[in-house]
Amino acid sequence: MKKEKTGRIISISGATVRTDLRGLTLFEKVSVGKQNLTGEVVRLDKDAAVLQVYEDPGGLGLHEPIQGHGTSLTTALGPGLLSAIFDGLQRPLDLLTEMTGSFIHPVHLASSLDLKKKWEFTPSVSIGDAVEPGTRIGFFTEGAFQHPVVVESGRQGIVKRIATGMTALEEPLCLLDDNSMLYGYQHWPMRVPRPYRKKISPREPVITGQRIIDFLFPLARGGTAIIPGGFGTGKTILQQTIAKHADVDIVIYAGCGERGNEMSELIQEFVELVDPRTGCPLLDRTVLVANTSNMPVAAREASIYTAVTLGEYYRDLGFHVLLIADSISRWAEALREISCSLEEMPGEEGYPTYLASRLSSFVERAGVVETLSGGTGSLSMILSVSPPGGDFTEPVTQALLRTAGTFLMLDTGLANSRHFPAINWMQSYSLYQDILSPYFQDVVAPEWETLRRRCREIMHREETLKEIMEIVGIEGMQEGDRLVMQVAENLRNRFLAQNAYSDDAFCEPRKTLEIIRSVTSEYAAEEQKKGGTPK
Ligand SMILES: Nc1ncnc2c1ncn2[C@@H]1O[C@H](COP(=O)(O)OP(=O)(O)OP(=O)(O)O)[C@@H](O)[C@H]1O
Ligand SMILES: [Mg+2]
Repeated sequence: MKKEKTGRIISISGATVRTDLRGLTLFEKVSVGKQNLTGEVVRLDKDAAVLQVYEDPGGLGLHEPIQGHGTSLTTALGPGLLSAIFDGLQRPLDLLTEMTGSFIHPVHLASSLDLKKKWEFTPSVSIGDAVEPGTRIGFFTEGAFQHPVVVESGRQGIVKRIATGMTALEEPLCLLDDNSMLYGYQHWPMRVPRPYRKKISPREPVITGQRIIDFLFPLARGGTAIIPGGFGTGKTILQQTIAKHADVDIVIYAGCGERGNEMSELIQEFVELVDPRTGCPLLDRTVLVANTSNMPVAAREASIYTAVTLGEYYRDLGFHVLLIADSISRWAEALREISCSLEEMPGEEGYPTYLASRLSSFVERAGVVETLSGGTGSLSMILSVSPPGGDFTEPVTQALLRTAGTFLMLDTGLANSRHFPAINWMQSYSLYQDILSPYFQDVVAPEWETLRRRCREIMHREETLKEIMEIVGIEGMQEGDRLVMQVAENLRNRFLAQNAYSDDAFCEPRKTLEIIRSVTSEYAAEEQKKGGTPK
């Protein structure tokens, strides 16, 4: 039951506020001050609670009221999310602009979803049917998207009445025999992973359309890739290109502490670009969560949890979801700032000691699952990291390295020479390669693995020959070695490089294979001549 409690502000330090309000619980949602700013309880002391305010705390004064909500911060889930753009607290930006103009001011919304809007509902259960967690009771038509409505965990009964046709979210969809109602939307506590029957090992890839990723460092559906890269190495462009083309049903794009103009360009492009699978604008399969650098720092954490909860929701409806977050470092910096103002004992480089566990419990929310309905859904993640000074030994990169399966290291040297995507092919890796190999061999071509090995061999040989070439020059090298250098150059320019601003931005696996076959054919012929079997 919702219980509301009121207390007073006893001190303020930036976005951190102390209150004398008793009886709060950790991570409980609170309303702070006369403006009702949204905040969360982050520490409980003997006679005070410490709150983190997620909106601009400017104007807050001592002794202003604090109210506890008895619930944690939640994410609204239901039809109307797709193509929406939310801030970190899941408030639709178009609605905020309407209410407060171009700059965000404190606004209190009852729900992030429009509860009055009517949607076409097609039921799939009838009066007298038994329903339990996971039962699909029908679907809403949301443009070209069929939005299933599934019974939440903890609810069950016999259907006494079921809605059909145009229905608003505030109207009940189904009346059960115990006179409780089922609605077409729900609010889920964002820090709590959503339930599923069981986790399944990943077996299929997310086709990103980036040759170097799909061919050399594949990402599994349900897996996690991290993209660490120094300033301007192409993290944002790579993530945005993948968001546009990846072979998934739903994309959740979280801009966390990054530039606002990049986000608005992305939105513009998504409206114009067409999803080749449905013929509808790309935005129709996308949810954007924007907590850009000019928005309150503390809300970065909320934006990350909102995004992952949205991802899990679609996963539970049986879809393949890709969560893209740019950048995790900005979230970690917010954690450092909060921890510092709480005067906690600092860990490495001033980050809180719980940094690694906080990041890994977030990454753990990715996966392929058997949903409560018995179907399969997946949530994959692509997370960028911006290590200060391009130093990959820093704590955020290291913490994510331990949990992520695909590591795509961006190289400043490659970016400077305008080789994009600037993924370093010697230092990146994918732990999913072996489990995905059978998929590529069955679905694309049996020689996928052979060609991949050949490609790797050429890259390694080039690496060793480079030093010799520096000493003797290309003319002084043996003919065979010269060929290796020539093929490696073609490999870099025609295969590994991919311009995000051209038609080459997406390359499907069959074409990837064709290009690699053609680029390495001379090398293969030479190897065969040498007497060995072609590799
Ligand atoms: N795949 C690509 N194709 C062509 N150009 C690219 C590609 N990736 C990056 N670039 C170029 O590099 C520039 C910087 O890229 P981007 O903004 O993605 O870097 P970043 O790593 O996100 O930078 P920051 O650290 O500032 O966030 C882009 O403006 C673009 O000119
Ligand atoms: Mg960027």
